[in-house]
Amino acid sequence: MGDRVYNFSAGPACLPESVLEQAKKDIWDIDNTGIGIMEHSHRDPTFDRVTHETEAVCREVGSIPEDYSIFWMQGGATSQCYMVPAYFLAPDRTADYFQTGKWANDSIDEVHLYGGLHICGSSKDNAYRHIPKGDQVSFSEKPVYVHVTSNNTIMGTEFKELPKVPDGSFIVADMSSNIYSKPLDATRYGLIYAGAQKNLGPSGITLLIARKDLIEKPVRELPKMMDFGLIAKKEGRYNTPNTFGVYLMGEVFKWIKAQGGLSAVEQMNIEKAGIVYDFLDSQDFFTPHAEKDDRSLMNITFKCPTEDLDARFIEKAEAQGLSTLAGHRSIGGMRASIYNAFPKKGCEALVEFMKAFAHEHAGATA
Ligand SMILES: Cc1ncc(COP(=O)(O)O)c(C=O)c1O
Repeated sequence: MGDRVYNFSAGPACLPESVLEQAKKDIWDIDNTGIGIMEHSHRDPTFDRVTHETEAVCREVGSIPEDYSIFWMQGGATSQCYMVPAYFLAPDRTADYFQTGKWANDSIDEVHLYGGLHICGSSKDNAYRHIPKGDQVSFSEKPVYVHVTSNNTIMGTEFKELPKVPDGSFIVADMSSNIYSKPLDATRYGLIYAGAQKNLGPSGITLLIARKDLIEKPVRELPKMMDFGLIAKKEGRYNTPNTFGVYLMGEVFKWIKAQGGLSAVEQMNIEKAGIVYDFLDSQDFFTPHAEKDDRSLMNITFKCPTEDLDARFIEKAEAQGLSTLAGHRSIGGMRASIYNAFPKKGCEALVEFMKAFAHEHAGATA
């Protein structure tokens, strides 16, 4: 890793090193134009090339069918909390939401501005340790759409299977923290959105993958910057997009392809997460937050016996080049975010550190 540390940040997060090396060159001069990627007009031939390539590789890597639009917006995944109901939810209709953590709640909070809300499954009473399924799920009669947060970045839980939703409705997924970490069947979704800053690139750009027939027209008159159909038609550049973000996502998609595609990336992710989860399962010093069946391949959450030890763990890890392991302030403890670009060696180093720390503090109790 040279002078770089193991970066367990939940996002913005570590990026593939080969992509960063390429970006260093392209920031100075891309395609031998004598102009860097961030200095090109978003309407010139170089950026035409970048836009079309990013879209094409995204489509190829994700096997996204032609009847889906791929485009990008600004405002982060958080802006989709209001854009989604504003676009799809008429005042007399209901949308169903899975309540699986903070980011799901941020989406839920905006729905009343536009129409009816039904919580179709919640793990709130269990501190969001699991994903509701089976008889814990009950849909409203005719939801327009069902919203899932496919990976709960803060809690460390992940939908392993998509719910079967009522006929006539479609799934909207906030995939910010597990997009392209494994193969996906886009046809099961009406709309996918993801802030790029975990698995795809820098912050400040949100990837959207939408069924074309659903974004022909919003259910109410909306400002142009909220019009999915218009932004898609304009290739994500109705106004000036985050040009560097479009470029970097393209490079990351190419990197995923070079790894062998999403199945290969999934295998790598299973292996990496397995190193940490196998250790967690083999000991009783650290307590994992998520229930075993639902735990995330991307964000691993756990605690020491006391908050004091959590703080000591984080500080000592940082000093040893295991950076940004503090859990989100809402649940505390530790969180190891190990997105696609995070190296396997970093997971091994973390486990070695955890073993030594547990040994040193053996006997501590909650
Ligand atoms: C699942 C999920 N949704 C939404 C967000 C918010 O994203 P943004 O900061 O891009 O608005 C995050 C950020 O960590 C997230 O993990």
